[in-house]
Amino acid sequence: MYPSHRPRRLRRNPALRRLVAETSVEPRHLVLPMFVREGITEPAPIASMPGVVQHSRDSLRKAAVEAVEAGVGGLMLFGVPDKHDAVGSGATDPDGILNVALRDLSSEVGSDTVLMADLCLDEFTDHGHCGVLDEDGSVDNDRTLQIYGEMAVVQAESGADVVGPSGMMDGQVGVIRESLDATGFADTSILAYSAKYASAFFGPFREAVDSQLKGDRKTYQQDPANGRESLREADLDLAEGADMVMVKPALSYLDVVRDIAGVADVPVAAYQVSGEYAMVEAAAANGWLDRQRTVLETLTSIRRAGADVVLTYWAVEAARWLRAGH
Ligand code: PBG
Repeated sequence: MYPSHRPRRLRRNPALRRLVAETSVEPRHLVLPMFVREGITEPAPIASMPGVVQHSRDSLRKAAVEAVEAGVGGLMLFGVPDKHDAVGSGATDPDGILNVALRDLSSEVGSDTVLMADLCLDEFTDHGHCGVLDEDGSVDNDRTLQIYGEMAVVQAESGADVVGPSGMMDGQVGVIRESLDATGFADTSILAYSAKYASAFFGPFREAVDSQLKGDRKTYQQDPANGRESLREADLDLAEGADMVMVKPALSYLDVVRDIAGVADVPVAAYQVSGEYAMVEAAAANGWLDRQRTVLETLTSIRRAGADVVLTYWAVEAARWLRAGH
């Protein structure tokens, strides 16, 4: 009788499919990125990311409690300051919005979740670049490193369990590790954005953090055409002391997630970024995609590619769906 090989046998009913599913997504795998804006009293919607807001300090606390109750694995915090300057002073100021909010969350949910902080200057600079500029306007790698070192210590003091350097400066992980170790924060972890691409998918994030950027980040973020250098970036970050490595964006870079997961001996994260969120939300709003199925399929794909941890703006909603058995 032909065909004798019938892979469909294992797809016959939900029980069989459940038994043989290779990949799972659990709430604990998901990290929720959150934005907190200085000086506002009500949350402010982000038009290009329907459902995502810039939080006030108060609304941030409440949303963090809800996220923890939903079972997410962690929170990644971004600050949106009132004022910007050339060196991003708000980033290293203990009273800067990101650090204040870290202290808020640390007392509110610090013992129940993993608190992470974006470690980068672009939210704080008046030119919007991830580092400080030299005389001819290019991003000065080594001067930026000094500031990252300070920023890491302030974030750790403010309660961050994990700092996430996302600026793609060479040597950033090593400098951050050294300054944390030198100041009594040897237990603070580094989630290195190792393979971060100069991506159009960061578009809506620029609105989310009120970015002042004109131009692009192509002199420090990776060219989407390149896969191999991601392995080099991850190797360097591991040699410099990264505790976890991350690929970003996620969906267009699943090959990179797979490659890095194949060689890294630390947990691998992937960041499903603002544009990936906006794309699905827009299609779903038009009735062109089934929102819940699409979201869960994207998360499953990222896990299947090899990510242990997924940063996603859908973390809370997805965690609730998953708990409800979807
Ligand atoms: C830099 C940073 C960016 C994102 C996270 N960290 C923006 C950039 O590099 O241009 C993007 C996140 C997203 O698009 O969801 N601080």
